Amino acid sequence: MKFFADTAEIDDIKELVATGLLDGVTTNPSLIAKSGRDFMEVTKEICGLTSGPVSAEVVALDHATMLKEAEVLRKIADNVCIKVPLTIDGLKTCKALTGEGTMVNVTLCFSANQALLAAKAGATFVSPFVGRHDDNGVNGMELIRDIRTIYDNYLFDTEILVASVRHATHVLESALIGADVMTAPPAVIKGLANHVLTDKGLEQFMKDWAKTGQKIL
Ligand code: E4P
Repeated sequence: MKFFADTAEIDDIKELVATGLLDGVTTNPSLIAKSGRDFMEVTKEICGLTSGPVSAEVVALDHATMLKEAEVLRKIADNVCIKVPLTIDGLKTCKALTGEGTMVNVTLCFSANQALLAAKAGATFVSPFVGRHDDNGVNGMELIRDIRTIYDNYLFDTEILVASVRHATHVLESALIGADVMTAPPAVIKGLANHVLTDKGLEQFMKDWAKTGQKIL
């Protein structure tokens, strides 16, 4: 399963790139606003940090303007992936862009039928939001299971990009279901390395090593 960082914070992205665990980045208008950076400038910088797809979202709501915005965004770098909302206009834009070989991430997906439409529109990625479903008392992971079944039934190439990931259990379940990608805040990705028994075991090893009085370097 590929790991994308859901952030526009440069330092966090650099730190994850250094681990070798990062396969791409997703941004959205809220994350750009949070970063306080210029959209074009920060997107270009992120694209230079990873060779993986970097999702940059259009903000127009109509197909014609979405296409014009995509035209500007895809000139930023070869690894820009145009993010469009799961609306009829977004799907039309998706079809047009993927037909020309541009990567498209169809975002704000909350139902399996919406995901079916994204696949039929040729999306490179579909982003079902699990955390926002959970916030509303619906099990978001059930949506991922349903989409996996549908995509496997018809051998769609669209990759399931689990979004709105809030904790380690979302990541684990995504991997068990067979999602293609998950995007999460950097803290969630780094947190996957944590285990209390790892900390405890390491502490004991260090104590015992000190008793030997030896050094490796
Ligand atoms: C996905 O691409 C979105 O940027 C993101 O995962 C949304 O997550 P949130 O629900 O935590 O805002």
